[in-house]
Amino acid sequence: MEMNIALLPGDGIGPEVVAQAVKVVKAVGQKFGHKITFKEGLVGACAIDATGDPYPDATHEICAASDAVLFGAIGDPKYDNDPKAKVRPEQGLLRMRQKLGLFANVRPTFTFPSLVHKSPLKLDRVEGVDFVFFRELTGGVYFGEPRGRNEQGTKAFDTNVYSKEEIVRLARMGFEAAQKRRKLLTCVDKANVMATSRLWRETVQELANEYPDVKVEYEFVDAVAMRLIQWPKAYDVLITENLFGDILTDEASVISGSMGLMPSASLGSNVKLFEPIHGSYPQAAGKDIANPLATVLSVAMMFDYAFDLKEEAEAITGVVNLSLAEGVVTEDIAEGGKSYKTSEVGDWLASKVIKAY
Ligand code: IPM
Ligand code: MG
Repeated sequence: MEMNIALLPGDGIGPEVVAQAVKVVKAVGQKFGHKITFKEGLVGACAIDATGDPYPDATHEICAASDAVLFGAIGDPKYDNDPKAKVRPEQGLLRMRQKLGLFANVRPTFTFPSLVHKSPLKLDRVEGVDFVFFRELTGGVYFGEPRGRNEQGTKAFDTNVYSKEEIVRLARMGFEAAQKRRKLLTCVDKANVMATSRLWRETVQELANEYPDVKVEYEFVDAVAMRLIQWPKAYDVLITENLFGDILTDEASVISGSMGLMPSASLGSNVKLFEPIHGSYPQAAGKDIANPLATVLSVAMMFDYAFDLKEEAEAITGVVNLSLAEGVVTEDIAEGGKSYKTSEVGDWLASKVIKAY
C-alpha cells in the first residue's frame, strides 16, 4: 500500500517522540512491504516563531494532501504565562481540527498489567479498565460566537452552540464503536441545566432506536467526573461535547497509571490525525528522556483507523508490550531499574518490528 503521512512534530518533546514513531513506521513499511512517504510541517509555538502563524497555510496543504497526520504536541510556557498574547500555539491546533474537519476525538483508556500499580486508584478498581471517549471536537464553546468582552473589558462571554447534525455524526461513531465492543454507550451531558445538553440527550435518544443492540445510559457530567474514578470499569464507550470531553479525557488519561502511554485519534474526514495525549512537557524537551510509547501506540491506531491494517497495528502494540515486559523503557516507568533514552527505545522497537514479526 502507498501511504502519505504528514508529520507535525510541534513543540516541546513532540519532535523527539515523533522521531521514534517514524522509526517504527519505517520498520513496519519495510517489513510489510508498504511505500510510505513523509512530509513535515510546522504547527504551534515553533510555527509562530518561524512564520507568525501557529497553523501556516503551507502546513495545512501538507495535511490536506496526506492520508494521515502524525502530530506530536503543542504549547510553550512563554504563551501559557501571557494571557494577553495575540497569537497562541493552541489556536493552531483548533484551526487544524476545524479546517481538516476532525470532529471526533477518540481517546481510549486501557491498562497494562505491568504498570497498573502506578495508577492513583486502588488496584481492584483499575485492573482491567477499558473504555473509550468520543469527544466532539469542532463545535461547542470552543468555536461558538459571540465570544469576547464588553467595551469596558469588565465582562467576558463565550457561547456554547450545537446543531443536531453535529451531535448525530459524533453519536453515530459512538454507537458504532459500542457495537464492536461491550455494547454500552454513555451519553455525558448537563441536561438538567443546559439547552445544548438537552438537544444532545434528545438526539441520542432518537438515534438509540437505530441501535437496539446498544444499551444507552445518560449521565450528568459532574456525576461522570466522580464515577470515573470511583467505578471506571462501569464504562465502555462515552460520548460528549467538546468542553466536557476536554476535561474528562484528562481525568481519564491518568487512571491507568500510564499517561505516557495513552494514544488518541481525531477522525471526521478523509485525513485522520493521530497524537499522544501527554502534551508538550517542556521541562523534558531536548533531553532524550521523554517516553515515546504513546506516540508509537498512536501510529498503531493510525494503521488500524486510517489504513485498516490490523496486522501492522498489532505488530506495533506487540513490540510495545515486549518493551514493557523486557524493561526497555524510559526513566518515567523504569522504577529505579535500568532506563533507556527516548532514542534507544525507538531504535529497539523498530528493530523488534523487523525481527519479531
Ligand atoms: C486537548 C488540549 C487542547 C484542547 C488545547 C491544547 C487547545 O487540551 O487536545 O485536549 O483543549 O482541546
Ligand atoms: Mg485537553
